[in-house]
Amino acid sequence: MNRVVVTADGPYCCTGSLELRSADGQVLATPAETRLCRCGLSRDKPWCDGSHTLAGLAREILHADTVEQSSAAGLLRIRTRRDGPLKLDGPCEVRAEDGTILMRGNETALCRCGRSGRKPFCDGTHRHTGFAAP
Ligand code: FES
Repeated sequence: MNRVVVTADGPYCCTGSLELRSADGQVLATPAETRLCRCGLSRDKPWCDGSHTLAGLAREILHADTVEQSSAAGLLRIRTRRDGPLKLDGPCEVRAEDGTILMRGNETALCRCGRSGRKPFCDGTHRHTGFAAP
């Protein structure tokens, strides 16, 4: 099962069968494990560079979304949206660091601007904040 763990004060820790693509479709990496920025401050997006220590993420509230029963295997494609979220396509489970399952299914969009009101999911707030992520 592909898994994204929303760390309490840091990045998305992604494990499994992963393919990371840029907004223009270029394959950036096919790692078994990677750490992706979700605070919006990394200077090495989409990867975490440790800048989240400045973001104050530790006190945030995480929201839940659809949790399907199936736990299918397969490739998880993670594609960055220009100035927007991480779009996930493929079987995956999104968990909080304490193990709470926030989403299980085949498609979602995760906030990477750090400003969503429905973290860890994108709620469109990035369109109004000037978030820039090429
Ligand atoms: S990327 Fe943060 S609200 Fe969409």
